[in-house]
Amino acid sequence: MKNIDSLFQQTHDEYVRTRYIAKLHNHCLMNVRFKVRDAYETSVKPKFEKKNGRSPETGHEISKAIEKNLFYRTYSSVRYNAQEMLSQSKQPAVARQLPEMIKVVRKVANENPAGGTLKTDPNLEIPKYITAQDVHLIPGGYHSEFTEDDVAQGFLLGARHGGPPINPGRDFGSVGNSVSAWLKHAYPDFTPANILDMGTQGGSNLMTYKVAYPDVGLYGIDIAAPSLRYGHAKAEMAGVKMHLSQQNAEKVDFEDETFDLVVTSFFFHEIAVPASKRILKEAYRVLKPGGLMVNLELPPHKSCEPFLNFMFDWDTRHNNEPNYRNYRSQDPIALMTEAGFPESETFERIVPEVATYPKDKLADVWDDKVEPPLHGRGGWYIYGSRKA
Ligand SMILES: C[S@@+](CC[C@H](N)C(=O)[O-])C[C@H]1O[C@@H](n2cnc3c(N)ncnc32)[C@H](O)[C@@H]1O
Repeated sequence: MKNIDSLFQQTHDEYVRTRYIAKLHNHCLMNVRFKVRDAYETSVKPKFEKKNGRSPETGHEISKAIEKNLFYRTYSSVRYNAQEMLSQSKQPAVARQLPEMIKVVRKVANENPAGGTLKTDPNLEIPKYITAQDVHLIPGGYHSEFTEDDVAQGFLLGARHGGPPINPGRDFGSVGNSVSAWLKHAYPDFTPANILDMGTQGGSNLMTYKVAYPDVGLYGIDIAAPSLRYGHAKAEMAGVKMHLSQQNAEKVDFEDETFDLVVTSFFFHEIAVPASKRILKEAYRVLKPGGLMVNLELPPHKSCEPFLNFMFDWDTRHNNEPNYRNYRSQDPIALMTEAGFPESETFERIVPEVATYPKDKLADVWDDKVEPPLHGRGGWYIYGSRKA
């Protein structure tokens, strides 16, 4: 066996169900959303204007005004159910193969062919913003464990269900490859000796930095042990040395000034704002002078018009991501400076998505003004800074 994901075997019908649901979900995100805009422009907005003598000024106002629109309700209902069914469609295959998955993951951890490390902490207190709900409508959320050395949530979230990618912009490698391509362009003399990925899940994004920086040391932390176990086995079987540990990013056990680069992706919007401030301070603490932090996230409220904010914040109300809107209402530059980073080094921008722009075209589009990305279509929003 070369790839841990080959343990995730669906029957024909399970596989077709998963792909159908994934396509339905993607269709909502990428296409039907424009029809929601039509419903807003032609019906909801004129009614709001007539009643209030002005247009809606925030996503929140649009969200309240559009609530009863039938097209929007249908869209929300389909999108919600597609999201929930996606994990549910994969669960039977994971449940059926779980004993074998645990056995193989344990064996790989014992043999440890690539020399990486895995440290779990059964006493780690999982933050309330993770345990209070099934985040992202994933049954069991990220952290749940029901048996010894449980890897079910790791396979559920990490294992690919095969076939061509449904959304190439969100496929494996896109995030790490896009960020590292930009880093090489923006900081050509920067070669990190080691990277910390906070909220790494199974380390899929972290692993890709090895392509850009072959000698780099890879460190990933997450509160979710099942994903870390799965990720450790995946990396070891791929011959990639990766150091994964179960830690809360609010307080990590690394010494001051350990890392050259700290990255996060799709992380902060799931975290309560006071906790995200603590995490940014931890990132600052563990960075060496001259080290960089790069966060890939949804763009903040301030850089999107009201309708886009309403669409992005849909997840706050319907996707068990209660911190999404509060997080997006922050100014990322202010968050970085509050954590100690110098304002002069702080940046925010959209970086081209490497799977969308052919490699030989990347150099030409770096300074294009790219519109805020729709979940990776065309580009990713990033922000960060460099420690003095
Ligand atoms: C949306 S996932 C993103 C995973 C990955 N970074 C990516 O880009 O695909 C968020 C991850 O953050 C982890 N997480 C949430 N709060 C955390 C915390 N306080 N400390 C460490 N990890 C955390 C979750 O367990 C989950 O794996």
